[in-house]
Amino acid sequence: MLLVHTAAELDAALADARAAGHKIGFVPTMGALHDGHVSLVGLARTYADVVVVSIFVNPKQFGAGEDFDRYPRTLEADCEKLDDLAEIVFAPSVDEVYPAGEPVAAKTAGPAGETFEGAARPGHFDGMLTVVARLFDLVRPDIAVFGQKDAQQLFLVRQMAATDYPGLKVIAAEIVRERSGLAMSSRNRFLNAEQLDIAEILAITLATVSQLIHEGMDIHAALAIGEEMISGEPETRLDYLALVDPRTFARVGSGYTGSALLIVAAQVGDVRLIDNHEFDI
Ligand code: PAJ
Repeated sequence: MLLVHTAAELDAALADARAAGHKIGFVPTMGALHDGHVSLVGLARTYADVVVVSIFVNPKQFGAGEDFDRYPRTLEADCEKLDDLAEIVFAPSVDEVYPAGEPVAAKTAGPAGETFEGAARPGHFDGMLTVVARLFDLVRPDIAVFGQKDAQQLFLVRQMAATDYPGLKVIAAEIVRERSGLAMSSRNRFLNAEQLDIAEILAITLATVSQLIHEGMDIHAALAIGEEMISGEPETRLDYLALVDPRTFARVGSGYTGSALLIVAAQVGDVRLIDNHEFDI
């Protein structure tokens, strides 16, 4: 594994692979890697000859008062995890990604970026797409892997790739969970033992509500049960529990049939957690 920090070093490291026509796989991350990230790298490997992992805590996708400053930065441990898994780790500085402090090309997420996570975190998805586009332009991958864990992010990246990066294949990786069912997240380390127990309610609620809907219960009635399950937990503040059409990310109502995505966001202590579950109705 080779660690590079600049676009020039990245180009040099990829020159042979590009000349030989090898397939380049790309996994963008913000570091603090856990088994969820590692599974993305493993999936990229099955599609590509050379795998690049980026590690960059993107200031443009954090709002005022969010956790940019305390976001864990663990580059050395991350590189150890990737040692046998990726050919190249690209860990650029803010100046390298945003020369003169500004995006090379700013992206806007549009209406689907203003609901749910976008409503709770204004500007988040514009900043996310802006950095993903910049990284795509630097790495120029053939395939890129994103986790289903961040379902709205994946939806928006796919939307952008379809118009701006037509040759790029975007691949979704399944959610990797702790044994308790809690979806792995770099932010879980901020939960204490008691909060880790409490946080299990998200996955339990997703399983319960999707089962109820799958068995024929009215969508609104099932969502109301789920909302009570989460709101009943101590230290927990539910942001949303919603059922959306995975093809549009728009809410669906009673009578909907087909593939459905149940999404949830809640604060446990001062940690914001998201999770989701896709199923058929
Ligand atoms: P980060 O939160 O580090 O996540 C990097 C990738 O790992 C994302 O595609 C995310 O969906 C995936 N991931 C995280 N937890 C996962 C889990 N438990 N199971 C499966 N995949 C998981 O998402 C970002 O960084 C940033 O927004 C980024 C795309 C890098 C742009 O800055």
